Amino acid sequence: MTQPIWQKSGIRIDTRIMRFLAGDDVLLDREFFLHDIAASKAHVEGLASIGVLSEAEASGLKRELDVLARDFRSGAFVLDETFEDGHSAIEARLTERLGDAGRKVHTGRSRNDQVLVATRLWLKEGLTLATARCRAVAEVCLDRARHESLPMPGYTHLQRAVVSSTSMWFAGFAESFIDDVQRARDTLMWIDANPLGTAAGYGVNLKLDREHTTRALGFGRMQINPIAAQLARGKFELAVLEAVGSALLDVRRLAWDLSLFTTGEFNLVSLPAEYTTGSSIMPNKRNPDVVELLRASYASVAAARTEIEQLLSLPSGYQRDLQITKGGVFRGVQRGLAALELVPDLLARLQWNEAALHAAIEPAMYATDAAIEQAAAGVPFRDAYRAAAEAAQVAGQGRTPAQSLAARTSPGAHADLRLDELQARLQRLG
Ligand code: ARG
Repeated sequence: MTQPIWQKSGIRIDTRIMRFLAGDDVLLDREFFLHDIAASKAHVEGLASIGVLSEAEASGLKRELDVLARDFRSGAFVLDETFEDGHSAIEARLTERLGDAGRKVHTGRSRNDQVLVATRLWLKEGLTLATARCRAVAEVCLDRARHESLPMPGYTHLQRAVVSSTSMWFAGFAESFIDDVQRARDTLMWIDANPLGTAAGYGVNLKLDREHTTRALGFGRMQINPIAAQLARGKFELAVLEAVGSALLDVRRLAWDLSLFTTGEFNLVSLPAEYTTGSSIMPNKRNPDVVELLRASYASVAAARTEIEQLLSLPSGYQRDLQITKGGVFRGVQRGLAALELVPDLLARLQWNEAALHAAIEPAMYATDAAIEQAAAGVPFRDAYRAAAEAAQVAGQGRTPAQSLAARTSPGAHADLRLDELQARLQRLG
């Protein structure tokens, strides 16, 4: 590793200790390196606007930061263990290219606000993707709810309960993913605050142009107090994981349905062939591995939340413990986003097995309809309920799934799905 930027004379560097300090930190910094570079450019502009850097120094630095970004993207610059971290790699590179101008770039900033701002930009990008992916899931669900409807069993306790429909099932997931769009969007607004310019966590003796960096980096507001900026580390990561996690909870229940519905016993659904895999030993098998991994993905989000929650038992101000939040949030958010990305196509192409859906509807599933009809005609519900229970097996006589569904007029239920209302809410979410 090159000399750490904080290295002063007379302190011996122990490589084992350095390795423990660094861990995989520098490799994780690859994830937000481009954001770190973008924030460095904004910082340079801010320093120029208050006269700490000359225009010539600032334009040289900005040019070299662009070159670094390009080289990083192309692989000509590799961020690896030769650097302590991504933050010092930027300074090292600028110093190598520009000499003194490079040595000036860190004026008025600390790696503490540098890591905050790079992470914040990364989190915003993650939430933007999460919003788009939840929206795509909701759109497919609305579309399928609109264009096809087959009667299917509605289950409670995994027991057949009442007649339901594939359109109600899809509309249910549509609304849930619209909730998730809103959660991701609200969280994005919540974390949309610029921590750059808070330095080590206590501000600096320079009138930094924080309004400029806030605007230049596209933040909605400035995170005003430097101590608050440090208090947000980990807390904002948790909020993002909660937002992504709420979508992944829906993915998990959806995946559970599909893994059950594709068993030989249920046989209600067939998955597109690409989403299944064969067995290495059993030639007869097509396994729903993708669906199972979708179901498993929430675990990574939950693990990241737990890790970060455990880390946050800290006093105010920067503590090195906070570094560990980085790996957790990257892994959790990435796993969540990767799962969400597959869901729209999977849902668009899964096929219901009409005959099996029909066969799964048994006469007793009309008992609730029968009881409510009686109650609507004036019989006290409890008496109607008892009568329907006794006649449960015959309750179906003369009834069809289509009639049962056509009568399900309570708002939101099969006969009044209000897909337009759901679509309009999704539209309003921007
Ligand atoms: N890798 C460090 C982190 O994630 C960067 C900040 C280092 N700051 C410090 N004072 N050592 O927290």
